[in-house]
Amino acid sequence: MAILVTGGAGFIGSNFVLDWLAQSDELIVNLDKLTYAGNLDNLAGLEADARHIFVKGDIGDRKLVAKLLSEHNPRAVINFAAESHVDRSIHGPAEFIQTNVVSTFTLLEEVRTYWANLAESEKTAFRFLHVSTDEVYGSLEKDEPAFREENQYRPNSPYSASKAASDHLVRCYHHTYGLPVLTTNCSNNYGPFHFPEKLIPLCILNALSLKPLPIYGDGQQIRDWLYVRDHCSAIRRVLDAGKLGETYNVGGWNEKANLDVVRTLCAILDELYPRADGQSYATQIAFVKDRPGHDRRYAIDAGKLERELGWKPVETFETGIRKTVQWYLEHQDWVQNVTSGAYQHWVGKQYGS
Ligand code: NAD
Ligand code: DAU
Repeated sequence: MAILVTGGAGFIGSNFVLDWLAQSDELIVNLDKLTYAGNLDNLAGLEADARHIFVKGDIGDRKLVAKLLSEHNPRAVINFAAESHVDRSIHGPAEFIQTNVVSTFTLLEEVRTYWANLAESEKTAFRFLHVSTDEVYGSLEKDEPAFREENQYRPNSPYSASKAASDHLVRCYHHTYGLPVLTTNCSNNYGPFHFPEKLIPLCILNALSLKPLPIYGDGQQIRDWLYVRDHCSAIRRVLDAGKLGETYNVGGWNEKANLDVVRTLCAILDELYPRADGQSYATQIAFVKDRPGHDRRYAIDAGKLERELGWKPVETFETGIRKTVQWYLEHQDWVQNVTSGAYQHWVGKQYGS
């Protein structure tokens, strides 16, 4: 038995691979293009593990995908591969359309061909699980109820529009061709191996380097935070028991304003790794120009996943964020390796001097 995971060297994908192998001996074939966001350091320790086969390649490479499917005969494909950073999608949307839409379409086509040729029992058991985001639902007003699965799609950034397009493709492959698909739409993740272009790791690392902690606009935008390993357990649960063709919202009921998240990070760092001059890291908070088209509020109603599949997150925001800060403090080598030249170039482009 095997599963094919795409994007398994990225933030969530690598956490998923590690969690999977901690609980199962089933082979994982991990297809990842190793863009700037893919990092084999996340999978250090698996080099000699026969249960993990890493393949550097693109989900849009038809021949490669066909070869991997026929060689390993997976019972499921879990698609994490994507361009994932909203700010990058604003600077350069083309890459997002290419990977998140065109290459996802290619992947679906190859999976459909593979699935159509399976024996009947394998065909029935097969699953294509597409990992998506709450951003497809757009932005909520302060008092609006949290996103439910039946909410209308209203994506506002090139990133979320490209993810919405991929969700629609996945849906139509079920409706039209009968491909056994499942989709998860998750809120903001945080935890180990989070690339430091995103708010939480960026602010932890900037704090430790005594650099400004950039808050876009007024810092009152709300995100709904979920510890990454809870996202991984939700994906496993949906893979095992999700109803074919359905979508499941994933979230931890942890709505926080960005400024409060950054203040919490500063308070934990003040306690665990105080500044030499005795000042709080919060003095480094700096308000900067807002993100164009910045969504004001996301909130996930994960009631369907809880009711129908019995999933619940393990971490609260308080326990998860403390673990995360501790992880970054204890993994300075990983940090040194990801904050390379290409990363410095991005920081210069996005935040100026
Ligand atoms: P990430 O950017 O950290 O990782 C993406 C991975 O995909 C990288 O390893 C990259 O090398 C790989 N990749 C990119 N293009 C590829 C291609 N064409 N072929 C093969 N591999 C390719 O992203 P992440 O934060 O781990 O997100 C994973 C998935 O989860 C994405 O689909 C994202 O939309 C979704 N998601 C993310 C969050 C979040 O908060 N990070 C929340 C909900 C959903
Ligand atoms: O909601 C799920 C989404 O969460 C995922 O689909 C995306 O892949 C993931 O990147 C994340 O998107 P966000 O745009 O919400 O994450 P980011 O960490 O970039 O920003 C979180 C919030 O913090 C957002 O309101 C923008 C703000 N922000 C971000 C950065 C990088 C700042 O105020 N300053 C910053 O420097």
